[in-house]
Amino acid sequence: MASFRLKPGLLLGAATAATQIEGGDANNSWYDWYGRGKIKDQTSPARANDHYQRWAEDLDLMQTMGLQVYRLGIEWSRIEPENGRFDAAALDHYRTELQAIRAGGIRPLLTLHHFTNPRWFEAAGAFSDARNIPVFLRFVTAVIQALGDLVSEYITINEPNVYATLGYAAGDWPPGQQSLPTAMRVMSNLAACHIQAYQLIHEQRLAMGFTDTRVSFAHHMRVFAPRQAWNPWHQAMARLARYLFQDSVAQACFSGRFPWPLQRPRSFKRPEGIQPRLYSDFIALNYYTRSTVSGLADGVRRAAPVNDLGWEIYAPGIVACARDLYRHYRLPIYITENGTCDNHDTFRSRYIFEHLQQLCASELPVERYYHWCFCDNFEWLEGESARFGLVHVDYASQQRTVKASGRFFAEIIRQGGVDEALYQTACRQPYHTQTGELV
Ligand code: BGC
Repeated sequence: MASFRLKPGLLLGAATAATQIEGGDANNSWYDWYGRGKIKDQTSPARANDHYQRWAEDLDLMQTMGLQVYRLGIEWSRIEPENGRFDAAALDHYRTELQAIRAGGIRPLLTLHHFTNPRWFEAAGAFSDARNIPVFLRFVTAVIQALGDLVSEYITINEPNVYATLGYAAGDWPPGQQSLPTAMRVMSNLAACHIQAYQLIHEQRLAMGFTDTRVSFAHHMRVFAPRQAWNPWHQAMARLARYLFQDSVAQACFSGRFPWPLQRPRSFKRPEGIQPRLYSDFIALNYYTRSTVSGLADGVRRAAPVNDLGWEIYAPGIVACARDLYRHYRLPIYITENGTCDNHDTFRSRYIFEHLQQLCASELPVERYYHWCFCDNFEWLEGESARFGLVHVDYASQQRTVKASGRFFAEIIRQGGVDEALYQTACRQPYHTQTGELV
């Protein structure tokens, strides 16, 4: 049946990240990366969506669309522009915005670190050096002191595996290093950051009188499938890729045990958890795609539907990944990111339908779905050229226009699901394969 009802209690909304939408900040590692000519289309994160000035307009749009939850980030380099100097005006800015989000009936989920560092922190070696962990924790403390009464739900670190792999093994992202051991050290240090931030946030909010705190890290997972299901080499490589990229770091962050090849930073002592031995209160899953494995590099099946960046579209994977984490950790599930690069909005509605339908048909306790992303935004290495938004942005005029997929998403919230009629009008869209065939 081409229809589904939302699971009872499942709340829908969208996600963003500070550097990708705010504009106006030249003090972070991605602005520096832009300055070094690394962004494919030469666009700058200092433009982005000008959201730092236009947040009220964007919030109005979210309310018009009926979003129930909103995952947003804060820009560390604005809050702590120099090592140890905190900017009260920047914290006030986020305070005002969070108050407005709450007053608008939208529940915020706050991300503390989403790929970007202040330049001074990057210059000091960032998370490749365990001596910098307390510097991050000092920032977390300042944020909770200033904003903790307004937010009960937190993501400490966004996608430790993507940050470490692209910045320190592949070298495509700042700081452009190519060393697998360093990437593993970064992942280990980020896991230690997550666990200690988890502890800190709970303690500080408890001291403020709040007992409803929920903290996790956003875990990027893919399905890793052998190119030839019967081929033992492909099977082994798929298992290895999966373990190195996502399973080992998940184990470290959730449990505080650092399996090979991760290593517990020497200075790190496992704190007494609020729930000892479990350092997350929910599963936060970012899911986009499936990788087809035959060696070390990722591939895509030839006849598979792909998005405009060539990533396979594979809806059953969202449940496979969530189930995998759930089997281990038995926590409520938040899909903290799911979405697709569809530059002309010709298949995003179908993508949303299929992924939500899979989730709602599953036995899993899914409590939140945050679509990635709200507005088209600065898509890291791709710059402004890769469009993931429910809302179209004309970057020159900064005009926002809700896309057909944005109207469809709003309708799902309004109706509590998708019925056959809505499916027929909104979701009968073709995907394309790598070779341009329609499927
Ligand atoms: C990241 C986002 C990014 C999205 C699409 C995720 O890995 O958290 O910041 O824009 O993927 O590439």
